[in-house]
Amino acid sequence: MCSVVGYIGKSLCKGFILEGLKRLEYRGYDSAGFACLDSESKRLLYAKSEGKIDVLYQKISSQALDGYIGMGHTRWSTHGVPSIENAHPQFDCQKNISIVHNGIIENHTELKNILESSGHTFHSDTDTEIIAHLLENLLLSHQTFKAALIDLVNKLEGAYAFICMIQNFPNEMVVVRKRSPICIGIGDNEMFIASDLLAFANKTNKVLFLPDESFTIIKKDSIQLYDFSGKPLIVEAQEINAYWQNIEKNDHESFMIKEIYEQKNAISKTVNFYKDLSTTIWDNLGLSPEFIKNLNNINIFGCGTSWHAAKIAQFFFEKICLIPTNIHLASEFRYMPFFPDKNSLYLSVSQSGETADTLEALRMVTSLNCHVITITNIASSTMVREANGFLLTQAGPEIAVASTKSFSAQLTALYWLSNRLAFEKNIINLNQMHVAESDLLICAEALENTIENYKLLIINELAKKYSLYRKFIFIGRNISYPFAMEAALKLKEISYIFAQSYPAGELKHGSIALIDENTPIVIFSVLDDIIYQKLLSNAHEIKARKGHLIAFAFEHQKELINLADQTFIIPKVNPLLAPLAMTGLMQFFAYQIAKTLGRNIDQPRNLAKSVTVE
Ligand code: AGP
Repeated sequence: MCSVVGYIGKSLCKGFILEGLKRLEYRGYDSAGFACLDSESKRLLYAKSEGKIDVLYQKISSQALDGYIGMGHTRWSTHGVPSIENAHPQFDCQKNISIVHNGIIENHTELKNILESSGHTFHSDTDTEIIAHLLENLLLSHQTFKAALIDLVNKLEGAYAFICMIQNFPNEMVVVRKRSPICIGIGDNEMFIASDLLAFANKTNKVLFLPDESFTIIKKDSIQLYDFSGKPLIVEAQEINAYWQNIEKNDHESFMIKEIYEQKNAISKTVNFYKDLSTTIWDNLGLSPEFIKNLNNINIFGCGTSWHAAKIAQFFFEKICLIPTNIHLASEFRYMPFFPDKNSLYLSVSQSGETADTLEALRMVTSLNCHVITITNIASSTMVREANGFLLTQAGPEIAVASTKSFSAQLTALYWLSNRLAFEKNIINLNQMHVAESDLLICAEALENTIENYKLLIINELAKKYSLYRKFIFIGRNISYPFAMEAALKLKEISYIFAQSYPAGELKHGSIALIDENTPIVIFSVLDDIIYQKLLSNAHEIKARKGHLIAFAFEHQKELINLADQTFIIPKVNPLLAPLAMTGLMQFFAYQIAKTLGRNIDQPRNLAKSVTVE
């Protein structure tokens, strides 16, 4: 998703800005840009390019294009195709005002019409350009810079974070935040601005997170912060020791394959981290014994892979804690009737902790005084700051756009939490709690071993064979149905092959019409005997119609194993952890198909890692 990076201070900024953008590159983008005020003439200099930052870098590395104030951007297209015209910065008519922006200006059509009719000419299809032209107008009609900015932010609707640099005001920058994240790193006679503090980690540990609906006018040594009515705000900078480590692929061909192999470690690190939390866990989660005693309902929300993890976790909370649990897709949850329940626990699940849909759902729930715990991989994320409590997964930085180890770490966190709550409610005893923890470690072992068992077969034979198919169906029942959803998403996003998931029992109600020899059906088994029998009947129905069946079956499930055209045998684990045991192999299979097709696996087309627009 779009990233913004800015600088004002005592040093030349080009190096920092390009490095900052590079650090946030994994979030996904399609074009990039840089602008600064020339160190001597204070004239605007800029460059933009389509594609990766390296292209921009090559374009400007040999040019004398640098200054003490500047900003950069990577763009993930929302309004207008990826192109140089649409890349940021965007400018006003005079090229006096430059804007880099993350988010969406929802009333851009209306504003554009007004501005065009008053003589402004637009050069891009972006909503961002409107900000520059609108400010150009407002600077003429207001007596002070601040008054123009107050009017500006009140005219812009949507969710946005942007940096504004103005040639006529060469010693200051403006940073605005409404719902999208942005922060300022405070240095010694220098300020670093970025949508994620990783961009300036190691430069300073003093970080000011802009409050929602606020703007600042910053100089190299001062910050004036205001709310949208213009009232000065006093917000303390936080001390955050974020470290930037250059994450390398090491000997791996891609980040995704590296991260698939890191899952065993991610699971055991997460389990051990929670064991060490011991009784302080309730402080982190912000839960009191009283609340847990009265807890009568759990609601979990998230998007994409995190939503799938939540759907699997429904079985954990209902079977282990005996608490009714509802799962919500965050993008829908916000717009549905909401019945706040003070005795309900709300969990937001998000690898990044920044996903706009999930964050907005979280805000809706907290604003009604209900308790939200966020389960995330990023300690410095907005969700951690805004939720009432948090539980961190220990997957380590996930760079590939497709989630792998964060999914298994989320399942680990959710399984552990369901057991911990059950223990607190005296549903399980301490021994059972320890068994649950060791079951997770056993499962981590199974996850890795199954990859090893089928690695060569998939690489040498199956990837090539299955990369020739143009569509796939993924099915499961009960706990393996949400897992089938995740498998379909994984194949789609990295291979671009059409993949659809269904609950196996639903096939006969319509989608069975799709079955033919050209559409492999991947069936994910379960360890519950009764549900396995039902799943087996579905497998027979598929074979009776000459469907090509690929089964992920457990080692004792001979009938399914013999029925399938291709079987992957998974060791038996705790039945609730069956999806976790199948996770590594499922991802590896999808990965090798995508690789055979020559896809850009770490950064698939059109996708972003951190989806900060709704
Ligand atoms: C999954 O491979 C995708 N990267 C995507 O579905 C992702 O899970 C979703 O955008 C939610 O992201 P989050 O976990 O960071 O909130």
